[in-house]
Amino acid sequence: MLMNTIKQLLDNLDAALTVKYQAVNYETNPVAVDFDDYSTNEKIYVLAQYSLFSRYIVRFLIEVLYKTSMGGLGLVAAEMQRNLAEELSDGENGDPHYVLLIKGFLLALNKNLYSVEASKATRSFEQHILTSIHDGNSAFATGVAYALESSAVPELIMTRTFVDRLFAEFDIEIPTAIRRFFGSHIGEIEVMHKSRLRDVTIDSFSTADELFSYGDGFDIAMNCMNDWWIGLADEVRLCREHENAASSH
Ligand SMILES: [Fe+2]
Repeated sequence: MLMNTIKQLLDNLDAALTVKYQAVNYETNPVAVDFDDYSTNEKIYVLAQYSLFSRYIVRFLIEVLYKTSMGGLGLVAAEMQRNLAEELSDGENGDPHYVLLIKGFLLALNKNLYSVEASKATRSFEQHILTSIHDGNSAFATGVAYALESSAVPELIMTRTFVDRLFAEFDIEIPTAIRRFFGSHIGEIEVMHKSRLRDVTIDSFSTADELFSYGDGFDIAMNCMNDWWIGLADEVRLCREHENAASSH
């Protein structure tokens, strides 16, 4: 009976994902809506900030690992360790996935995203996610992880489109490292992360309090993601207004 309840919660969260949260809806994400009108530098700016998410995901998952280990949730903790191991080493040459992405930008566009600084919106996103995992209970932290993992595929499909558009402007082939980053995540890795986390969730949580916290963690994480994309779109707009004002003097 209770098993159905946690499954029902997961089904509800899955159904709400792209309907309730604009971050992962290509039609309503505030950057996606205007992306075609962005200048080349604005497109690079957004993708450089986005690359930091693939850097931060391991920090987020380590925090979930600590929280769930402390809470005695061995199944979730083990899944976090497995997930982290995958993020940190690409099957082919052992590069962490974040490195695959930024190496591609370095090789093809001579842009070193490793040295990019987090913008205000990106820093706030990172801090809010880390703090909420740290301050919540184990079910809440796992709900945050489920938000991150279940939103990964729609988000990567959206950002792959951004990358396609950017490279089309330069009229150069998308490097293999970047193609592998998106292809393997969308087609396999993130599908597995989500379904394995779903399985351990079903085996780990059942009480009404746990379900409430889990759903709350999911909702708070997705709202942080919304705020991040809204913030990035605002940063692009403010920077452009600044430049326009400067050039009119
Ligand atoms: Fe993942």
